[in-house]
Amino acid sequence: MSNDAFISIQNVDKYFGKFQAVEDVNVDIAHGEFFSLLGSSGCGKTTLLRMLAGFESPTNGEIYIDGHAMSEVPPHQRPVNMVFQSYAIFPHLNVRDNIAYGLRKQKLSKARRYEMVDEMLNLIALPEYGDRKANELSGGQRQRIALARALILRPKVLLLDEPLGALDKQLREQMQLELRALQRTVGITFVFVTHDQEEALTLSDRIAVMSGGKVLQLDTPSGLYETPRTQEVASFIGTMNFFDAEVIKASSTSIELSARGLGKVAAPARDQQYPKGAHVQVAIRPEKLRLSNDRPADTKNALQGQLKNSAYLGERSHFYVSVDGIEKPIAVSSQNREQISTGADQTRPVWLSWNDEALVVLNAD
Ligand SMILES: Nc1ncnc2c1ncn2[C@@H]1O[C@H](COP(=O)(O)OP(=O)(O)O)[C@@H](O)[C@H]1O
Ligand SMILES: [Mg+2]
Repeated sequence: MSNDAFISIQNVDKYFGKFQAVEDVNVDIAHGEFFSLLGSSGCGKTTLLRMLAGFESPTNGEIYIDGHAMSEVPPHQRPVNMVFQSYAIFPHLNVRDNIAYGLRKQKLSKARRYEMVDEMLNLIALPEYGDRKANELSGGQRQRIALARALILRPKVLLLDEPLGALDKQLREQMQLELRALQRTVGITFVFVTHDQEEALTLSDRIAVMSGGKVLQLDTPSGLYETPRTQEVASFIGTMNFFDAEVIKASSTSIELSARGLGKVAAPARDQQYPKGAHVQVAIRPEKLRLSNDRPADTKNALQGQLKNSAYLGERSHFYVSVDGIEKPIAVSSQNREQISTGADQTRPVWLSWNDEALVVLNAD
């Protein structure tokens, strides 16, 4: 366990009967971190979160929170609280009583309880809503109440299981910003579950990408996007062009490759070591390719192809360029800084170019 880990998940497996839902997860989370578990439905996110909460026990391994092993600690004695997707607030109680619900076992004066609830109402920017009935609230407001109800207990860790999943896109984006601001204000460690990659990128300090019960990669948002380690991670986060490649020569700083479709290319070596002749993949994001009508003079990394298709999306356009040697057209994305006319002259020869730094070498998996 590293010194600054506030939550340490060590060698954790979870079986349901013979089915393994979580496999050998090792994750350290720092105090005050906004940490996300990202992966498609069924990959084990909720199971991992429920093990943190104590609703499930690991089959193997141990979870430490704030330096204490959790295996013998029941849910209500853990310094955590959980917020669910279906905002479980009580329809027959008003907002104030909903928020104060968790305090009922604590011996507090009515005045103190009111004070604490008012503090929470301010925090979630609904100061005038204490007397409202829960069924007189919008989805976004209910979710804020659910957050306040969890936060009033001052947990050291807040566990959030797709808390914005039921909201429509616009509200969800607004709530993402609010949630992030809220987390910074209260300084509590958040462990957030989502299947939405944009949401994870927007909110998180770090993200664990999960698939089939395993953590594929744990990194910062930009680390995951810029330097994914496997094809699975690279294609889960955003769009990526992949090329089969063979290593020609590798040093500690640079890898020379022969890539199908691209020809001879050089990519930065990011703590990667490959023997000569190794079969790998080279990947490049659509927005890191430049499209031009003429061969660019300023780079050796240029390739001619045929523009097959384009899609105008307002602020940006997507282009699909076919090149010799590969079947799938290469995706290019560029910002429409100047007014462009769409639809004209679609199939035509174009040039693609890129910088070495834009290339990522991936294990062929
Ligand atoms: N109590 C359970 N009994 C049996 N299988 C379960 C149980 N809970 C979850 N699973 C299975 O474990 C896998 C992971 O589930 P879950 O953690 O809910 O995934 P996610 O939250 O990523 O969608 C799924 O295949 C699910 O069907
Ligand atoms: Mg789930």
